[in-house]
Amino acid sequence: MTKDRRNRAWYGKLDKDGFIHRSWMKNQGFPDHAFDGRPIIGICNTWSELTPCNSGLRDLAEGVKRGVWEAGGFPVEFPVMSLGETQMKPTAMLFRNLLAMDVEESIRAYGIDGVVLLGGCDKTTPGQLMGAASVDLPAIVVSSGPMLNGKWQGKDIGSGTDVWKFSEAVRAGEMTLQDFMAAESGMSRSKGVCMTMGTASTMASLVEAMGMSLPTNAALPAVDARRMALAHLTGKRIVEMVEEELKPSDILTRDAFINAIMANAAVGGSTNAVVHLLALAGRVGVELTLDDFNLGSDIPLLVNCMPSGKYLMEDFCYAGGMPVVLRQLAETGHLRPNTTVLGGDIRAYTDGAECFNGDVIKSFADPVKPAAGLRVLRGNLAPNGAIVKPSAATDHLLEHEGEAYVFDTIEDMKANIDRDDLPVTKDSILVLKGVGPKGYPGMPEVGNMPIPRKLVRDGVRDMIRISDGRMSGTAFGTVILHVSPESQAGGPLGLVQTGDRIRVSASAGSLDLLVAEEELQARRRAWLPEPPHYTRGYAKLYVDSVLQAEQGADLDFLVGKDTRPVTRESH
Ligand code: FES
Ligand code: MG
Repeated sequence: MTKDRRNRAWYGKLDKDGFIHRSWMKNQGFPDHAFDGRPIIGICNTWSELTPCNSGLRDLAEGVKRGVWEAGGFPVEFPVMSLGETQMKPTAMLFRNLLAMDVEESIRAYGIDGVVLLGGCDKTTPGQLMGAASVDLPAIVVSSGPMLNGKWQGKDIGSGTDVWKFSEAVRAGEMTLQDFMAAESGMSRSKGVCMTMGTASTMASLVEAMGMSLPTNAALPAVDARRMALAHLTGKRIVEMVEEELKPSDILTRDAFINAIMANAAVGGSTNAVVHLLALAGRVGVELTLDDFNLGSDIPLLVNCMPSGKYLMEDFCYAGGMPVVLRQLAETGHLRPNTTVLGGDIRAYTDGAECFNGDVIKSFADPVKPAAGLRVLRGNLAPNGAIVKPSAATDHLLEHEGEAYVFDTIEDMKANIDRDDLPVTKDSILVLKGVGPKGYPGMPEVGNMPIPRKLVRDGVRDMIRISDGRMSGTAFGTVILHVSPESQAGGPLGLVQTGDRIRVSASAGSLDLLVAEEELQARRRAWLPEPPHYTRGYAKLYVDSVLQAEQGADLDFLVGKDTRPVTRESH
């Protein structure tokens, strides 16, 4: 029995408060010895039938419980808000910070000593990590794991990535609506997250690279029995982490974030990782800036998965998964020493890592693409930055000057993009305003707006698109995202007019609006923000306090952490 363990302030008391805390828990049939001072492990579960990607987490929670009991701990599962990326309007991202608040306050208010975070779908992983980091109790991640490869008409099809392709094919008249509908069932064949290298698998890969999960967590398919075993092992390990007092702040150092940036480049990870890593760094108090993402720009693309490559997560798993990527980063001097949930160095994750398919996981000597990391762009159109993902872009468009065609709102874009008389060519630059954190609100994944139908019919499949929004991690194209400040916050993006010339240079890291300063000043004087969409509730709180993309779009009052014990009792 450990006297100073956190849970003793709940379950170790011999007064009326201790009676209350224990007695009500005992209504679930827990015996006396569950309260004898052993580590109490919270299992923070984002399971929900409205988050299909996380629908396997109930099973995994049982696996975690086996491991916790085996190691002499006492597991208690609790639900938190679940964010179903494909189901929530206006965007799950509006609620990432709300989930983080839910996680943080649940961990702090209850008498637990450590926590296992069960998440998977895009916003659930960062939301849970942000919340846990702000309390800083020992914490470890078990991810949902990817769905099995999509299969349709004898071919592999990838979550998201092939939806965008099929949808363009329908618009181009190359695919029937019947086939389009039939492909739905083939795309999502099992529990789990998107099996492309979308945001969910990106975040799981970066969690592994940062050492916040056990090795192999990222790629094991959701329904692979080995994921259940990994959950069991994670339950055992969190009990030891509590004994060792190994906390997120010991693991989430600046070096961990740099390792994540390198890994994101090597796996061809989602642009969404940028806002999530920046927000998480803000919680733990690590200095991380948008420009740090340029550190990964020379890293080649090793993982040949959609949307940047051709395979899927199941293939990545069978080829060896993240340990092989981390081994290559280590061997080329790109993996910084850093503590993991195992207590040792991240290099231990590469022990015995072997690549079983050199076409799925390529090498530094023969990569899918050289220099694949994200590029940060700046200029008078994005004074505080914007990003582009070269691995998913068309090379020649990364150096381009063209005429802007502006959509003032998402409704404007949807109503007009397919007009036959839309005055655009393949060299035009589509600009979408009002889709930033404050504008939409919630910074949705609409930055990869569709190619105008008249151009799709001519075979155009990519053109430059610029916005203050994000795009799905499964999406592709020469899409410039996260322009900051956003238009609704008075950023210069709000001043762009159709016909303006814009110059993009990924190699120079620049994004310029070629309009004279006096003209921009005049436009600024005439500019008015859109009226707010929300005037009450969480969404109002969000709009009033959300930070811009380069600060991770966290709420300003949530930055940092509070690790003080809660001393006041409920009765
Ligand atoms: Fe949930 Fe892709 S939509 S992981
Ligand atoms: Mg997404």
